Amino acid sequence: MYGLVNKAIHDMVVTSFDEATWNRIRAGAGVEDETFLSMESYPDDVTYRLVRSASELLGTPADGLLEAFGEFWTRFTAEEGYGDLMTATGSTVAEFLGNLDNLHSRVGLVCPHLRPPSFSCTDVTDHSLTLHYYTDRDGLAPMVIGLLKGVGARLGTAIAVERTRRREDGADHDEFHVRFHDVAG
Ligand code: HEM
Repeated sequence: MYGLVNKAIHDMVVTSFDEATWNRIRAGAGVEDETFLSMESYPDDVTYRLVRSASELLGTPADGLLEAFGEFWTRFTAEEGYGDLMTATGSTVAEFLGNLDNLHSRVGLVCPHLRPPSFSCTDVTDHSLTLHYYTDRDGLAPMVIGLLKGVGARLGTAIAVERTRRREDGADHDEFHVRFHDVAG
């Protein structure tokens, strides 16, 4: 994955803990890079090793870290220059989630090695939808839950997410039931 992802992991750790904790996580993961180049592509394994090492060192299940990371990612990318892209992606939850593939296509214009996931929405009502998540990577569905919460926070919309189909259980893709309503004020 692009270095931007590993850089975000670094920032999340340093924001919640400190550089010393990050260095222990990095050492535990056997990662020698002290920093990551946002626009360079790194093997996925580097990201997975960092998450596993953080989970061991912090005593937090990887799923919980991935969910927190997803939420962090929506703030991090906005600060890294992708705020306008997020704004252009949609002003309501349904519009935003319906445009996720366009968002990643736009990112792909500047990150040619991007291997993005794919999303589609069905059963869209004023207050709910079903989000379909397609990827060839394993174990990242918890991150999607955090991403959805981050998107909701950005749009001033309360979001409740339930995982309704899991690849781990043999489904061909992951599915989420998403409910949303505007937060007054
Ligand atoms: C402007 C904001 C965003 C940027 C710049 C961005 C960019 C990226 C990048 C660089 C990757 C790594 C993939 C690779 O390097 O091959 C990625 C992965 C991913 N993105 Fe985004 N993304 C953004 C917003 C979102 C949002 C809002 C969602 C979902 C609600 C999302 C869902 C994901 C997921 C689940 C992955 C993990 C890879 C996978 O599932 O295969 N992204 N994105």
